[in-house]
Amino acid sequence: MTEQMVEQTLVIIKPDGVEKRLIGEVVKRYETAGLRMVIMKMTILSGGFVESFYAEHRGKAFFQDLCGFMTSGPVVIMVLEGKDCIETVRAINGMTDSNAAGAGTIRGDFGDRTVIRRNVVHASDSAESARREIKLCFNC
Ligand SMILES: Nc1ncnc2c1ncn2[C@@H]1O[C@H](COP(=O)(O)OP(=O)(O)OP(=O)(O)O)[C@@H](O)[C@H]1O
Ligand SMILES: [Mg+2]
Repeated sequence: MTEQMVEQTLVIIKPDGVEKRLIGEVVKRYETAGLRMVIMKMTILSGGFVESFYAEHRGKAFFQDLCGFMTSGPVVIMVLEGKDCIETVRAINGMTDSNAAGAGTIRGDFGDRTVIRRNVVHASDSAESARREIKLCFNC
């Protein structure tokens, strides 16, 4: 069996998650899984920031709507740490499309089933993404 690594990941509770009063619920799910909160802040993202944060999606059909959504209200950004943290958080969040996300995942339980982008949370998808996103959000 591969040894699990202590690693860090970046999570954003998106504007729909904050609007739906899900901050406590989301944090509780990560902490219950044994992950540790390293740093956290609430902020409103600028268009420029979101465009560079989601640069991998530039040019895709949903990009402009995604950027508009991510700047539409306050978000909560956090760094979590723990063994196999990146994969664990992605599993807790569930699949991108809330219709496809399983019951018991954050997106399955709280995501918008008619609008894909309104899926409550973002999480880094690799160690390289985590390093880039943590630096972008916290300059560390
Ligand atoms: N086909 C789509 N239509 C509309 N919005 C989309 C679509 N695909 C992705 N999105 C939005 O763009 C975000 C980034 O897409 P990505 O493919 O990176 O999914 P993800 O890694 O599951 O989500 P995130 O990066 O937010 O954690 C999604 O979370 C969702 O909000
Ligand atoms: Mg992604």
